[in-house]
Amino acid sequence: MTEREFAGRVALITGGSGGIGAELSRRLAAAGAAVAVHYAANRGAAEDVVADIAGSGGRATAIGADLRAADTAEQLVGSVERELGPVDVLAANAGLSRPASWEDVDAAAFDETLAVNLRAPYLLARRSLPGMRERRFGRILFTSSVAGLTGGIVGPHYASSKAGLHGLAHFLAARVAADGVTVNAIAPALIEQTGMLPGDPGALSERVPVGRLGRPGEVADLAMAVLRNGYVTNQVISVDGGIHPR
Ligand SMILES: NC(=O)c1ccc[n+]([C@@H]2O[C@H](COP(=O)([O-])OP(=O)(O)OC[C@H]3O[C@@H](n4cnc5c(N)ncnc54)[C@H](OP(=O)(O)O)[C@@H]3O)[C@@H](O)[C@H]2O)c1
Repeated sequence: MTEREFAGRVALITGGSGGIGAELSRRLAAAGAAVAVHYAANRGAAEDVVADIAGSGGRATAIGADLRAADTAEQLVGSVERELGPVDVLAANAGLSRPASWEDVDAAAFDETLAVNLRAPYLLARRSLPGMRERRFGRILFTSSVAGLTGGIVGPHYASSKAGLHGLAHFLAARVAADGVTVNAIAPALIEQTGMLPGDPGALSERVPVGRLGRPGEVADLAMAVLRNGYVTNQVISVDGGIHPR
């Protein structure tokens, strides 16, 4: 594939206002995609990413949606279709991470995290998949977490939501693989320059065999490699500095 292998494609990156999503948005735009940079509260950050992309000659738009509500996922895909065209690449990357002990996570907290981290990715995929299959090309990538593999340190709600993404990827991937659509998840851990570090960066980096926190660009590198590759599907791939050997 050439440098601009996503030319003519439309990508929706949820959580494009955050550390990992912003970096992935820029890279997809550099590879030629028209990019919908989604945000929830942080419109300014999404607009900054859009401005960066436009400044480099790319095409992007910022679209807001609070994914705690069930109907916003469908509405979000509809907005992208109207503004940029049908979604070819869905990076369901937005996430809610509220550290809490299992004794403190009640039904409401559990449901809220599941709604954003698991139900919304499912509804976004469900809404995007028919068009992808019809066009015989699609990429769905969930941003999970090493917490979905190990339990992690954020809490039971977060770990469950991320582990759920793995089951979702496996269920969907098998059913759409023959239509040119790949479905995968990446599982980062302890990435700097994000709003999600569950503690002091210095102390957290001591948990990482590589000896430092990861960078959003390193997660985006892996995401791009997965998105470029039509023969990688049904996988959960970690980018965690060696925390969790598999
Ligand atoms: N950073 C890490 O160490 C790490 C490790 C493992 C996994 N991850 C995963 O990586 C993904 C990206 O997070 P990040 O690291 O880039 O952190 P981040 O900078 O905090 O970004 C989180 C993103 O999620 C969006 N979001 C939060 N609540 C939302 C809601 N109710 N509806 C829709 N979107 C919402 C945020 O939007 P607004 O800012 O606009 O509100 C933001 O764009 C997440 O799924 C996270 O679980 C991160």
